[in-house]
Amino acid sequence: SAAAAGDKTVVIGVAADSGCGKSTFMRRLTSVLGGGAEPPRGGNPESNTLVGDTATVVCLDDYHSLDRAARKARGLTALDPRANDFDLMYEQVRAIKDGRAVDKPVYNHVTGLLDPPERVAPPRILLLEGLHPMYDERVRGLLDFSIYLDISDEVKFAWKIQRDLAERGHSLQSIKAIIEARKPDFDAYIDPQKQYADAVIEVLPTQLIPGDDDGKVPRVRLIMKEGVKHFAPVYLFDEGSTISWIPCGRKLSCSYPGIKFAYGFGAYFGHEVSVLEMDGRFDKLDELIYVETHLSNLSTKFYGEVAQQMLTHADLPGSNNGTGLFQTIVGLKIRELCEQIVAERDAMTADAVKV
Ligand code: ADP
Ligand code: G6P
Repeated sequence: SAAAAGDKTVVIGVAADSGCGKSTFMRRLTSVLGGGAEPPRGGNPESNTLVGDTATVVCLDDYHSLDRAARKARGLTALDPRANDFDLMYEQVRAIKDGRAVDKPVYNHVTGLLDPPERVAPPRILLLEGLHPMYDERVRGLLDFSIYLDISDEVKFAWKIQRDLAERGHSLQSIKAIIEARKPDFDAYIDPQKQYADAVIEVLPTQLIPGDDDGKVPRVRLIMKEGVKHFAPVYLFDEGSTISWIPCGRKLSCSYPGIKFAYGFGAYFGHEVSVLEMDGRFDKLDELIYVETHLSNLSTKFYGEVAQQMLTHADLPGSNNGTGLFQTIVGLKIRELCEQIVAERDAMTADAVKV
């Protein structure tokens, strides 16, 4: 956590491979932070930036230094650091933290070309989502909090099939081939970032159905680093205990294969972490309040806020399982962290004025 007295903007990094739920997470997050976010008015219709009252979302694909044709010509994927401009990324995030507007490039996902830059004013909160928010040490040092969405191969495949078969007309074989071709660069440049994350949302195949690995029922783990300033990990029942919980079927309806929660301590890349886990799916979102009642340190502003957020976004993917639940919870934690950083900064500024 890099908050300094002079910083004007809180910066949050969200890293994941493409198609792993970053945009979905951004929608839940901006909603929790207040006001949602929309494309900049009058700007480029292909802009990836979303501007809200509190937060601005910048997609780091905008820092692709090579366009689609140049990547193809050089045989590089977008995951390769050589296809991205980390100097400019660092310079612009630094400028925003210093309170200066920047002219950020725009990567056009339709044409695969770089469009003319757009102006980004310093927001209260800057959400940096993309392939590499924690890759470059300098950029990483500017992040006040970081999250990695760790989607297992089985689940990634299930999500991609669902989207690409339906919407993009790819065949099963070609989807498999695309994933396989990206895998070496994913392993080299994207996956290692998770060691730096303050929170990781891991999505794995269920353990409730023996031998199941089709990725349709997810087992989701929220891994929370201990000792991160302004971030008190969420816990189930009793902080520090090891818990396995199968909720009462009359209070929380669920069909096969059921729902199971777990909570405990562990180690993650040499850091002490607490881990909250949910395996299975909900049937009725309005019964979620029952789960919420048993969780602590949720950073809600009123009783039932988690359940309310989940209901508001019932249409988003993952709303009936741990991905939506944990994304919502992380959103609330980030809101509180941002409020605490701002309060601390204001106090420091007030002290400085007094002297
Ligand atoms: P990204 O921004 O990382 O590319 P998106 O949020 O756009 O990812 O999600 C890509 C696709 O993956 C969605 O359209 C959806 O089909 C699928 N997906 C994302 N999150 C989930 C989820 N939690 N559960 C099921 N499918 C999901
Ligand atoms: C990743 C990047 C995108 C890029 C896509 C396809 O998903 O996030 O910015 O467009 O890869 O890359 P390609 O080189 O096939 O255009």
